[in-house]
Parts: sequence; structure tokens; C-alpha cells
Amino acid sequence: MLPEFFEFYNPTKVVYQVGIATNLKPELDIIGIKKYFIISDQIISDLGLVDKVADGLADSGIEVVGRFLDVAQDARLKDVKRCSDLVTASGAEGIVSIGGGSVIDTAKAVNILFSAGGDLVEDYSGAHTLTQPLHPHIVIPTTAGTGSEVTMVAVIYDEENKEKLVFPDKFLLPTLAVLDPEMTISLPPKMTAATGMDALTHAIEAYVGIQASPVSDVFAIGAIELIMKNLVTAAEKGDDIEARGAMLIAATMAGISFTHSMCGVIHGMAHTAGAHYRVPHGVANAIFLPHGMEFNFDFIYEKLAKLAPVMDISADGLSEEEAARNVIAAVRRLTGRLNELGVLPIRLRDVGIPEEDLAVIAEGALNDGSSFYNPRPMEDEEELLPFIKNAY
Ligand SMILES: [Fe+2]
Repeated sequence: MLPEFFEFYNPTKVVYQVGIATNLKPELDIIGIKKYFIISDQIISDLGLVDKVADGLADSGIEVVGRFLDVAQDARLKDVKRCSDLVTASGAEGIVSIGGGSVIDTAKAVNILFSAGGDLVEDYSGAHTLTQPLHPHIVIPTTAGTGSEVTMVAVIYDEENKEKLVFPDKFLLPTLAVLDPEMTISLPPKMTAATGMDALTHAIEAYVGIQASPVSDVFAIGAIELIMKNLVTAAEKGDDIEARGAMLIAATMAGISFTHSMCGVIHGMAHTAGAHYRVPHGVANAIFLPHGMEFNFDFIYEKLAKLAPVMDISADGLSEEEAARNVIAAVRRLTGRLNELGVLPIRLRDVGIPEEDLAVIAEGALNDGSSFYNPRPMEDEEELLPFIKNAY
């Protein structure tokens, strides 16, 4: 059945090639500016990845006018302010961000202040508050998960008020997403597994979400196929460039999908587990994913059944319900395998959430913005609680 209405807007140019992060001259020439400011974090810098990119930029005739390498594990409001002052003072004409979701989101928010001035919270809270394009922003992801390189959202943590601020704006879509598998080979196995499961959750939630369209489905299905085939290899053999490349492409495709179709209750539960118990986002998604699919089952099984061939599962002679159950079983096999490898927890009890607090997760998920787009409508947290208990 076709949706009554949908829109698709993806102005971010995506380029993929092994080694392209150090050889961007053709792309830089198209963008046309000559002075860039680099935003990254200490871990990426210590791995030598910032210097590597900076050398490549210099070889392309670009002047790197400054670096901010202090992005924390969360994208923090105070870093956005500090960094945007440095970028503005540097005389930069554009930003290159090198890192995972926190670095990219920090750079997006910095670009708001750098381009449009003002105060992030006072002037830009709410959705689509920007009125004109920002300075060019080139994103080089070093994880394959968040998809932030192709999404229109920046999530920033306000450490004073202990809340996550969400800035959705079409002008936050980066100018260029540079997918270079060499930039992800040093990602440790646990991070590889967690971020990869975040991407899979984006793709599955986008695919079954109420805002899904035939266009977002193409990206979701493509991402699911690549992740099911490559995540274990990427986690097991970090230097497998083929698996790394597939995961990077998949995370970007999942990002394109969910920035259009949004996520659902699984992200609602993961956001709560992250905010209250500091469970890493990808780990929380991995734990909740099969249980959230079960929770939604009656509303999604027809569509889920169509994923059987994508996941290399035979659906011959099976009903849609049976095929859909096998799809969920395939997701469990994937997380089970990653668990056997010692790189991914798959139960809430293993990530420090007390059993008596499971209702907190249910309540948080019910009130989370993601759950608004969930295929199964929810009236109270009691409906969700049994599925969270199953995740324990
Ligand atoms: Fe996510």
C-alpha cells in the first residue's frame, strides 16, 4: 500500500572509496573554499587519523586554520560554545568533522553558531529554526553506526540541566559525507558491534515505521542486507576492508532511511537506558531490538516477512507470520553470535540496569519522541513492560 504523502530530501553528496579521506581534491575543488577547521576527538587524534586527513587536505591546497580535538563521549553544549568561538576566530570558511556521532553532531551545532551566530538554546531550540544555508561541512565518519553524516539532526547534551537537546533542521544536512573504510579499521570490536547494531536498528525501525515510504524502504532494505552479511566479520576481523566498507555504506543507507522515516519504540527504550543508566546507545538498541520487534509483531509481520530473502532465510511454504518470526530469529542469531564473541551484551542484567527499575524504561520509552512514530500505538507503559522484562 502506498503512503498518502511522503517526501524525500537528501542533498548530502556521498562519496565512497578506500583511501578517499586523504585524497579529496576533486570534491574540495567543487565546494570551492580554501580554509577549513577540523573538529574531532582525542581518541581519533591519537590514532593519527586527524593528521592523516589534515595532510591530505594540505596536499589538496587547503589551509587547516584550526583544530578542536576535545569532543567528549557525548556531544556537549559547553564544547559547542567553546568550539564555535574558536572556529569563528580562526577565519575558517568551512568545517571538516572526523569521528563518530558525537563529533559529527557537535560539528553540526558548531556550524549553526559559526554561520548564523546567536545562542544555541535560546535562538535555535525547536525544529527547523534556521533560515539560510550554513557554511560547508564535510563529514568523515570513523564509526559505522549513527548515520549522522546524512541526517538533519544534531543531538547535544546539556550537562547543566541533564537533558539531551535535539536540533532537527534541513540546513544541518552535511555538504559531503566521505565514506572511507580505512578510517574505521581501528574501531575496537565492541564499538564495531554496538555501532553496527545501532545502524541495524535504524534500518529496521525505519522500515516498519509509520512514516516509511517506498524510497526510504530501498535504503533500509539495502542497509539490512549489508549489515546481516558483514557485521560479524567487521567485529571479528577489524582489518577486513570489504566488511568495513559494507558496514560504512550500510550505516549511511540506514541514516538516509531513518532521517526520512524516523525510529520507533526500540530507540525510545534505548534513549531511556542511555539517559538513566549510561548504557551505550548501540548496546541498548541491540538488547531491545528483538523484543521491540516482538512488541510490534501484529503491526509489522507482513512487512517483516519480506525481509526473509534479504536475510538469506528461506520462506518457502511459510506463512507471513512464520517468515516474520524467522526474521526476528535471524536478528537474535546475529546478536547471539556477537555475544559469543564477547563483544556485545544481549541482556539488560548484563549492563547494570536493576530489575526493579524496568518500569522506568517503559515509562521513559512511552514518553520518548521516537515512540510517536512506532507502528504499534501505545497508551500506557504496562503494554511494553512484559517485553522489557523479556530483555532482562
Ligand atoms: Fe540510533
